[in-house]
Amino acid sequence: MTQRTALITGGTGGIGSAIVRYLARQGHKVATNYRDEAKANAWRDAMAKEGVQVVMVRGDVSDPESCAAMVREVEQQAGPVDILVNNAGITRDTTFHKMSYQQWTDVINTNLNACFNVTRPVIEGMRERKWGRIVQISSINGQKGQYGQANYAAAKAGMHGFTISLAQENAKFGITVNTVSPGYVGTDMVMAVPEDVRAKIVAQIPVGRLGKPEEIAHAVAFFTGDEAAWITGANLAINGGHYMGW
Ligand code: CAA
Repeated sequence: MTQRTALITGGTGGIGSAIVRYLARQGHKVATNYRDEAKANAWRDAMAKEGVQVVMVRGDVSDPESCAAMVREVEQQAGPVDILVNNAGITRDTTFHKMSYQQWTDVINTNLNACFNVTRPVIEGMRERKWGRIVQISSINGQKGQYGQANYAAAKAGMHGFTISLAQENAKFGITVNTVSPGYVGTDMVMAVPEDVRAKIVAQIPVGRLGKPEEIAHAVAFFTGDEAAWITGANLAINGGHYMGW
């Protein structure tokens, strides 16, 4: 396997940590961004104890200038970014009639505008080198909608629109662009959903349980391999059968 440099945004989170671990164990150099230094240091130490070395760079995915600086720093420390996983994301769940403009824009900026902010500084290098892998981590709720998530579902659906346009523009440069749409995975984000609401959601999952972060990381590794060169513009739903639209 060719060793690549992979930038995974939001790598310190639940699904992000699993992607970092998986790609690092495949032999890639891995990098992620952070905003909270104390949290980042604790996370980096925990990963190092597992034998996973991670390049960590300060960066706010909702801010284009911060992302340009972050990518420059990652490339100085780890080399040109060959694999980009747009994974960072937040929720601000509330029904739309109660939603503030702040709750709307926080989610659109961090989940959707981040795709512009982080991908824009890496795409030209990928095109010049004629190789790249870009994966958006979207959501089941971008596919089916979700009560209380007009902001999040709009951003997550938008991420796949981004994928299929970039896939067309960059196919002839050896760059594939795909989306992974996880269902409800047992991370802090999902555990923050009130227990009674969560129980009703889990009851709708045919496999009968929440997903595991590694089950999402496995799909990201699949898309980022050399062997996946002919898969572009795809969306892979991984949700325990919760939503089977196609
Ligand atoms: N369908 C229909 N009605 C629903 C409903 C649903 N799915 N969910 C709630 N309701 C109804 C309730 O039955 C209740 O009705 P009554 O008033 O008639 O009793 C009413 O909505 C409650 O409405 P409120 O606006 O008062 O609700 P609230 O403020 O208490 O909470 C909420 C609303 C914040 C959306 C809460 O229901 C919630 O957290 N839902 C979960 C949202 C969710 O799935 N988030 C996913 C987070 S994880 C993630 O995003 C990762 C990923 O990609 C999957």
